[in-house]
Amino acid sequence: MARRNKITVVGAGNVGATAAHWIAAKELADVVLVDIVEGTPQGKSLDLAQAAPIDGFDVNLKGANSYEDTKDSDVVIITAGLPRKPGMSRDDLLKTNADIVGKVTDEVAKHSPNAYLIIVSNPLDAMAQVAFKRSGFPKNRVMGMAGVLDSARMRCFLAEALNVSVENVTAFVLGGHGDTMVPLPRYSTCAGIPVTELLPKEQLDAIITRTANGGAEIVGLLKTGSAYYAPSLGAVEMAEAILKDKKKILPCAVYLEGEYGINNLFVGVPCKLGRNGVEQIIEISLTNEERSALQKSAGAVQELIDVLAI
Ligand code: LAC
Repeated sequence: MARRNKITVVGAGNVGATAAHWIAAKELADVVLVDIVEGTPQGKSLDLAQAAPIDGFDVNLKGANSYEDTKDSDVVIITAGLPRKPGMSRDDLLKTNADIVGKVTDEVAKHSPNAYLIIVSNPLDAMAQVAFKRSGFPKNRVMGMAGVLDSARMRCFLAEALNVSVENVTAFVLGGHGDTMVPLPRYSTCAGIPVTELLPKEQLDAIITRTANGGAEIVGLLKTGSAYYAPSLGAVEMAEAILKDKKKILPCAVYLEGEYGINNLFVGVPCKLGRNGVEQIIEISLTNEERSALQKSAGAVQELIDVLAI
């Protein structure tokens, strides 16, 4: 019997629950929402299931505290992890979340050995590397979501500055998900026209800075948490590209083995996503300045990997 696609979302916080919402609203797959907090994934799944008759989506929604129900998922989106608490260093957070993502990955790999893993937990690139090493999955099946979010932020700001539809604007962001990310205006366009021909340099520089600080800007406004609408939809866009075999080119954190001169490290680069996951890593030519900015960003990710010794 034909069955629907199945996506497990680990972590029923704002990012995870909102990912479940986008998946259901798109009728993309059945969803299993998993969290260690008893009642939260069950309650949110039930609430979402009760929205189905209103919007008319037919998918099964299930909340769980263990992984039995996640069996044979096609895609698993991992959002689990803690935000930094007072007194915690960046390295403490790194190690705590590496531990959480590692344990989640063990369970996921056991119950869904053929799944595609999309990591959203922070620090993003390092957590993708943890999931890759712990799962033992091939590199085409493990990817991190950051570039879709970072480039969406840049597209949003560009569309606003140009006073055009967001649909007309593409943006290109390389590198790790952090202050060192590398937005590339040269490869960002409005209806095919490079934005470097449409906006003055000072305005583009301001947009680049705002993009790199995009997560922090929202944390500053929310005060008690970080962004979730756009991060969750970024992960769902990647899942959709895989499940529908769209061959869509999206910036993703993937394991590089020499591409862009980077070795054995997850860093954000343009990839083609289809039914075989990361089907191609696309290498574009960079200026010396862009290349050294990317190397610097990769260096920041490598420092975290060195702390974790993985
Ligand atoms: C952000 C965090 C969630 O960029 O990584 O909003």
